[in-house]
Amino acid sequence: MEMANEGNISIQRVRKTFPQPDGGEVVALNNIDFDFTSGKFISLIGPSGCGKSTLLRLIAGLILPNNGIIELDGEKITSPGYERGLVFQDPTLFPWKTVYENIAFGLRARKVYREEKESIPEFIKLVGLEGFEKSYPHQLSGGMAQRASLARALVNNPKVLLLDEPLGALDAFTRMNMQDEILKIWEKRGMTTVMVTHDVDEAIYMATQIVVMSARPAKIEKVINVEMSRPRQRDDPEFLAMRAKILKILHFAGNREELQYYL
Ligand SMILES: Nc1ncnc2c1ncn2[C@@H]1O[C@H](COP(=O)(O)OP(=O)(O)O)[C@@H](O)[C@H]1O
Ligand SMILES: [Mg+2]
Repeated sequence: MEMANEGNISIQRVRKTFPQPDGGEVVALNNIDFDFTSGKFISLIGPSGCGKSTLLRLIAGLILPNNGIIELDGEKITSPGYERGLVFQDPTLFPWKTVYENIAFGLRARKVYREEKESIPEFIKLVGLEGFEKSYPHQLSGGMAQRASLARALVNNPKVLLLDEPLGALDAFTRMNMQDEILKIWEKRGMTTVMVTHDVDEAIYMATQIVVMSARPAKIEKVINVEMSRPRQRDDPEFLAMRAKILKILHFAGNREELQYYL
């Protein structure tokens, strides 16, 4: 772990509402208090529409809370910043730029491009895209495009990596590969990682800590520390017991029809 005690996110009394066309409002998050501590791998899981993406976008600084504050290492988050890397479910690559150019584009909005461009090949290698530097996004598989998005978020050595269902659109096989790849990168670089997923197995396989959110307005229903050794075995009795436990919590947090969504 290279980042000694950096990347601590503190969420204090955060409330976020969205105005509705009818003049009302949706309370997405109500009075959330939580700390994401340095170097952890946190999986956020909860019913669809409960506010997981909202929480991630607040940490990213893309939106601001109505009440409460979010701090990174003691400093209030008021806007996006390069020390917080973000990857969404759908790769957001520029179609007219190559893999190399897309990744290079992430470099602190190009201000430090000249000094830091030597590091780009290292990140291309880290995500396993060597040989595809000159490819365009349409020439990549979904998994490769997500690798490029990941590299673009990593080029700035973020203290915090925010992943919003980054593997949700991938087939099961690619997804399991990417889970291992992301874990390898996290183990190597040690940034605090917050990953939204609706896949319980993915959460247990990857996280050091699983945060289960309740239906909207979201509150934190349960925090589960996962101490199983790695690589984790999906058919291990401890794994299966944790799966059953989380599904049970989610059953109370959401509604029954939604159970299918987590499997
Ligand atoms: N920009 C927005 N405008 C209006 N409502 C929003 C906006 N973003 C999110 N919401 C609402 O806030 C709630 C939480 O959304 P979201 O955080 O996307 O949930 P999740 O990621 O857990 O599925 C939902 O009811 C959603 O419709
Ligand atoms: Mg979402």
